[in-house]
Amino acid sequence: MAHLTPLLAFRWSPRSFDPSAELTPDEAASLLEAARWAPSAGNGQPWRFAIGHRHDETWKRILISLPSSDQGWVRHAATLVVGAHTGGDAERTAYDLGQAIAHLTVQATALGLYVHQLSRFDRAGLAIELDLPGGIRPLVVAAVGRLGDPFDLPADLRTRETDLRHRRPVADLLLH
Ligand SMILES: Cc1cc2nc3c(=O)[nH]c(=O)nc-3n(C[C@H](O)[C@H](O)[C@H](O)COP(=O)(O)O)c2cc1C
Repeated sequence: MAHLTPLLAFRWSPRSFDPSAELTPDEAASLLEAARWAPSAGNGQPWRFAIGHRHDETWKRILISLPSSDQGWVRHAATLVVGAHTGGDAERTAYDLGQAIAHLTVQATALGLYVHQLSRFDRAGLAIELDLPGGIRPLVVAAVGRLGDPFDLPADLRTRETDLRHRRPVADLLLH
């Protein structure tokens, strides 16, 4: 396998989060700083974030916007970040938001934190719950925390947690 920087090699999306761990204010600020410095088309910076920490009102509102099947494990995440985008060209601004979240995940890895992104949530409901201004489109929820014990997960999720991860070979990705 070609060389990969450890910051990317060690990133993965767990479902087992440590239910007692919290992010320090510096860690939370560092994640948003990483997102802030992402590149964007025309430097438009169309990303917007809502951040909730365990058991605060924002965290609770984000959690209940998720499918109940995910709430069971996401509730152990220390911090929940909503990634939203704004601006005229939704395709372009969604792309930029994805880059900002990618930056956030790399910074999280550098801090020994883990991120699991979720796009399955009640977007319209969350926009109302968080009283988001019109034109702000929530697209993803990022669950952030420290790694927990996979044996604390229900059996079906535990198996998925410990399964080998797969990717298509590079040769399958090349168009020419
Ligand atoms: C934009 C985006 C949306 C995702 N949505 C969900 C989701 O709704 N539920 C979920 O369990 N995982 C979700 N994931 C996590 C992916 O399933 C995961 O990243 C993928 O299986 C690759 O695994 P890895 O991140 O451990 O490499 C999402 C990831 C991304 C980037």
